[in-house]
Amino acid sequence: MKRRSFLSWGAAGFVTLWSAVGVSLAAVVRFLTPSVFYEPPQAFKIGNPADFPFGPPTFLADEKIYVFRERDKGFAVASAVCTHLGCTVAYFPSDQKFHCPCHGSVFVSDGSVQHGPAPRGLEWFEVTLARDGQLNVDKEKVVPPAYRLMV
Ligand code: FES
Repeated sequence: MKRRSFLSWGAAGFVTLWSAVGVSLAAVVRFLTPSVFYEPPQAFKIGNPADFPFGPPTFLADEKIYVFRERDKGFAVASAVCTHLGCTVAYFPSDQKFHCPCHGSVFVSDGSVQHGPAPRGLEWFEVTLARDGQLNVDKEKVVPPAYRLMV
C-alpha cells in the first residue's frame, strides 16, 4: 500500500468515526430532552366590561370564545369550538343560533344542540372580574349556560 493511499483511507476512517460519534451524541441529547407541548394559558383577561357592547356577542378569534353582554343578565362566555370535530362555530344574530360550517351542527342560544352531528352542547366558561377591573375568563372552569357575571 502506498503512503498516499494509506493516508486517504485513514482520513476517511477518521471522518466516519467522528460522524458516528456526533450522530450518537445528538441522539442522546434528543432522548434526554422532554417532549413538551406548550399550550396557551387557559385563564386570560379579555378587557374591560365597557369594551363589550350589548346585543349580539363579541367573537374573540384568538381565544375562540363568544362574549355575551345582556343588560339585565350580565356577562357570559361561550366556547366557539364545535363539540363534533373542533371547527369554529359562527353565531348568527338573525336566528340567535350557532352554526358549524364543517358538518352543519346547529346550537341554540344556550349552546345546546339543535341538531348534530355534534354530540353535546357548547361549553360555557367562568368569567370573573379581576382586581384591575378587567374581565377574566378561565377555560378550565366550565359553568352551566345560565351562569352570569353581573358588573
Ligand atoms: S365539526 Fe362541527 S359539525 Fe363537525
